[in-house]
Amino acid sequence: MAHAFLPYLVIAFLLAIVSNGQLDYNYYDDSCPNLPIVVRNNVWTAYRNDTRIAASLLRLHFHDCFVNGCDGSVLLDGTAHFKGEKNAGPNRNSIRGLDIIDKIKNDLERDCPSTVSCADILTLAAREAVISAGGPYWEVSLGRRDGLTSLMKAANANLPSPFEPLDKIIAKFTSNGLDIKDVVVLSGAHTIGYAQCFTFKRRLFNFKSSGKPDPTLDPSLLTDLQENCPNVDGSNNKLNPLDTSTTEMFDNTYYQNLVNNYGLLESDQALMANEETAEMVNEYSMYPYLFARDFAASMVKLGNIGVITGQEGQIRKKCASVN
Ligand code: HEM
Ligand SMILES: *[C@@H]1O[C@H](CO)[C@@H](O)[C@H](O)[C@H]1NC(C)=O
Repeated sequence: MAHAFLPYLVIAFLLAIVSNGQLDYNYYDDSCPNLPIVVRNNVWTAYRNDTRIAASLLRLHFHDCFVNGCDGSVLLDGTAHFKGEKNAGPNRNSIRGLDIIDKIKNDLERDCPSTVSCADILTLAAREAVISAGGPYWEVSLGRRDGLTSLMKAANANLPSPFEPLDKIIAKFTSNGLDIKDVVVLSGAHTIGYAQCFTFKRRLFNFKSSGKPDPTLDPSLLTDLQENCPNVDGSNNKLNPLDTSTTEMFDNTYYQNLVNNYGLLESDQALMANEETAEMVNEYSMYPYLFARDFAASMVKLGNIGVITGQEGQIRKKCASVN
């Protein structure tokens, strides 16, 4: 009797796994075998044209996952019914790489229509971007589904600001199931990419109404930044590298910068003002492989935030709008 039921139990169990919709490394192996190569080709082509794209794609994935989970919501245009995340302060005139995601989606719709979610494309593109800049590899599990809404308000509330204190930033990470170590490790993403002058300018001239620059900013970096970001509104959108020493390389110099008071954003340098985070910064500044390993692990955690699977959500045909 028990034996006769066993096969049914096994099948029921397998079905439960599938419909329970866990993420899976081999999720698209049969349905879209070209997926890895399509993502890789597109990211590398984009990178050869513009190395900054690596930073932009990585940040896009982060901004997706911190708002309503990794569900591609950052890619949705607003509609008559809602203002989208693209309009939020941290995103407007700031996020980049949407055209690359659209291009990948377009290629995939030709190969395997309505199969691969935009959320998974973003996750894979971020991993490929880090590799193209010389950073670590990690396994990406797949099967995320695309969300149906995108809320500007949620993005404004959940994305960290460079002007807020470290404890507030930590709280935003913990509310997403990440911890203080993830804050330090993922901030290492600022080893590539650029920031507009307005995101750090208040450090340069009249820091917290002191009439003086931020004392935790190295004097020679200060001079350079004051030159690149003069104290006029006209300089607000000029770009400055987040990591002035090896701007293009995904390495651990971000942490060496912090140790040397060379952090660009207040929120970067703040990691040195807290005993627990400063200790981790010191470690990562000394051990590049430790950083590479931990960054890979934290990216897996980031990519699993609030994912929807199984029958929830949908597979968008176009990343900018729901079907
Ligand atoms: C810890 C809190 C964080 C704060 C306050 C913060 C803030 C910022 C700001 C203000 C910029 C410049 C945006 C602009 O000027 O348009 C920026 C850029 C960037 N952020 Fe963050 N960020 C944080 C965490 C992260 C995380 C966790 C990642 C990824 C894992 C990340 C990846 C990036 C990258 C790669 C850029 C450069 C983008 C480009 O050049 O296109 N950031 N961030
Ligand atoms: C190349 O990069 C620039 C930005 O630096 C971008 O405006 C342009 O669209 C890119 N061209 C291609 C073919 O991707």
